[in-house]
Amino acid sequence: MKKEVRKTVIAGNWKMNMTPSEAVAAVKETASLTAGKDGCDIVLCVPFVDIAPAVEAAKGTNVKIGAQNVHFEKKGAFTGEVSADMLTETGVGYVIVGHSERRQYFGETDETVNKRAKAALDAGLTVILCLGEVLEQRQAGITREIVSMQTKLDLAGFTAEEMKRVIIAYEPVWAIGTGLTATPDQAEEVCAIIRGVVAELYGGEVAEATTIQYGGSMNDGNAKELLAKTDVDGGLIGGASLVPEKFARIVEAAQ
Ligand code: 13P
Repeated sequence: MKKEVRKTVIAGNWKMNMTPSEAVAAVKETASLTAGKDGCDIVLCVPFVDIAPAVEAAKGTNVKIGAQNVHFEKKGAFTGEVSADMLTETGVGYVIVGHSERRQYFGETDETVNKRAKAALDAGLTVILCLGEVLEQRQAGITREIVSMQTKLDLAGFTAEEMKRVIIAYEPVWAIGTGLTATPDQAEEVCAIIRGVVAELYGGEVAEATTIQYGGSMNDGNAKELLAKTDVDGGLIGGASLVPEKFARIVEAAQ
C-alpha cells in the first residue's frame, strides 16, 4: 500500500461545543500554532452558527472550515436542517456525514447518510464519511462485516470521480469520547478492510488514493503511533480538537 499517494487530513470535530466568539479565538489560535505545517490538510468542523465567523477567522491561514451535517434536499420544509448550497455559500469546503452520534441519537441510517453525502458531493463539498462498529459488534467478531456493509451502503451510487472528494473516517463507536483508543494495529486492520472494500467497488487506484482517517480518543499522546500505520491517513478528533495546543501537536505528529 502506497501511503505517499494519499493526502493526510487532520480534522477536528467540535461537536456541540464553542460559541461563535469562542470559535473565533480557537480558530485563530489553532491557525497560528499550525502555521507552516503543510504536511497535512487541517480542517475544523464547527457548529452551524460558528461557520461564518470561523471562515472569516481562518482566512489567509491553512485551516479549513467544515460543517458537521447536511440535509439531502436542496430546500424546503425541513425545520432545523441546513442544505449543501447554504454550506458552500458560507465558505465551507468539508462536511461530516454519518457520525455515530447522529446515527445513535438522531435516527440516521445508512440510507440517509448516503443521501446526505450525495447532496454534499453534488454541491462540490468534500465529505468526511464516518462509520464504525459498536462494542457488541466487535465483541461478536463481526467488525469486518459491519464496516464492509456500511462502506458499501454509504458509498452507493458514487462515481470514481466523486470518490476524490470522499474521506472515510473509521470511528469505532466504543472508542469515541471514552478515552479507550483502538490500538494502532486495530485501527490499521479496519482501515485496511475499508480500503479493500473501496478497491472492490472502484478498483485499486481509487482505493490507494482514498484518505481513510481514524477517530476515537485520538490525542496528542497517541497520534504519532496511529498515524504511522500504512492505512491510517489522518484523524478525526473530538475532545482534543477543542484545545488548540493539543490539536496542534496532533498536526505536528502528522508532518
Ligand atoms: P473523541 O476524540 O472525543 O473520542 O471523538 C471522536 C469523534 O467522534 C470525532 O468525530
